[in-house]
Amino acid sequence: MKQISITKLITTSFLLIIMLSSCVTTRKSITKTPGSQESDLSKIVFYASFAGNSHNTQPWMVEVCEKENEILVKPDFSRHLKVVDPTSRGLYISLGAFVENLCQASAFYGFSPMTEIYKDHASGHLFVNVKLQKSNSSKGNISSIEKRMTLRTPYKNTEIKKEHIEVLLDGTDSCVSYISPSMPQCNYISQKTLESYSQQSNRDDAKKELAEWIRFSNKLVKENRDGLTTAGMGITGFAGVMVSHMFKPEDSMKDSFVNKGIDNVRNQVQNCGGWLLITQNQDSPESWIQTGRIYQRINLRCRDLMIGMHPMNQMIEEAGFESDANRYLATKGRIQFVARIGYVDKYPEPVSVRRELKDFVFAK
Ligand SMILES: Cc1cc2nc3c(=O)[nH]c(=O)nc-3n(C[C@H](O)[C@H](O)[C@H](O)COP(=O)(O)O)c2cc1C
Repeated sequence: MKQISITKLITTSFLLIIMLSSCVTTRKSITKTPGSQESDLSKIVFYASFAGNSHNTQPWMVEVCEKENEILVKPDFSRHLKVVDPTSRGLYISLGAFVENLCQASAFYGFSPMTEIYKDHASGHLFVNVKLQKSNSSKGNISSIEKRMTLRTPYKNTEIKKEHIEVLLDGTDSCVSYISPSMPQCNYISQKTLESYSQQSNRDDAKKELAEWIRFSNKLVKENRDGLTTAGMGITGFAGVMVSHMFKPEDSMKDSFVNKGIDNVRNQVQNCGGWLLITQNQDSPESWIQTGRIYQRINLRCRDLMIGMHPMNQMIEEAGFESDANRYLATKGRIQFVARIGYVDKYPEPVSVRRELKDFVFAK
C-alpha cells in the first residue's frame, strides 16, 4: 500500500515537472517563421537576428529599403552594456555577427550581398550598408542559422581534428588561432577565464547590469523577447522550472546564484577541446565588426560539425587580465574574442529568444 503511494507520488511529481517544463518559454514556442507572403528582405532580416550577441541584448536597428534592395544595420546604443563593455567592442562584435547572418541568409535567398561600413557623423557611430543584388542562384543553407546556438554544457576534452580546424578557420585571414588542450596556453586561458569570470560576477556594477537583462519568468521573456532566459542560460529540468517560476531578476545578484555561476564556469573550462582566439591588428569598431563576422561564421560551421562554441570574453574584459593575456597569447595584434570549443554528442534546439521584426526594423 505504502509502496503504491510512493510510486504514485514519484509519477505525479515527474508528470508535473514535465508539464511545467513544457510551459517554459523558448524561441520555438514564441517565434513565427515568416510566411511565403513576406518579402525576401524580411525573411533575410528575420534570420539575421538569430546571430549571437552579448547578453542577448540584440543591440541592432535595421532600416530596409525594399525598392533599392538595401539594408542598413545600425547599432542601438540604448542596448549597450556600459559596465562590462565600456569600449562598445562587444556591441560592434554583435553587429558584425548580425551582418554575417544577413549575408549568408541573403545568399540563400538568391542575392549577392555587398557590404560597406559608414560613420554617422552626428553620433560618431558606425553602421553597415548591405546592398543586395539578385543573383538567381541560392547558395548555402538556412538550417545552420536556425540551429546555431551558444552551447554552455561541458564538452569532450579531445583535441579538435586537424581537418575540422581547417574547415573552421577557412577564409579567416589567419587572425584566428586554435589553442589545443595539449598546449600550455590552454591551461592559462582556462585558469584566467575562471579568475576573470569570478572577478566580474562579484562586481556590484556588473551584477546590477546583468540583472537588467535577466528574464527568469515566462512573463518577462514574452514581454521583452531579449536577454538571458532560464532556458537560454542552460538552466533546465527541475532547476529550470523552479528558477523560472520562483526567481526574480534581482535574485541573480545573490551570492548563492553568483557562486553557482562560478562553479559552472569551473566545470566548463575544465571540459573543452581547446579555445579559439580572434586577434586583430587594429583595435577599432571596424575591426570589431569584422571580428563579429568571423565569430558568427565559425559558430555556424561548429554547429554543422557537432562542435560546441561558447564565447567567454571575461579575460579580455576585466581589468588586470587583458594586457597579461595579450602579452602571453597574442603574437601580434590584440585579442578581441575568446571562445571555448569542443565536440559534443548532443546539440539541443536553440532556446534563446529574439524580438519581432516590428520591434527593430524600420522602412527607409
Ligand atoms: C561579444 C560576445 C560576448 C559573449 N560573452 C559571453 C559570455 O561571456 N558567456 C556566455 O555564456 N555567453 C556569451 N556570449 C553569448 C551570448 O550570451 C549569446 O550569443 C546570446 O545570449 C544569444 O544566445 P545564442 O547565441 O544561443 O543565440 C557572448 C556573445 C558575444 C557576441
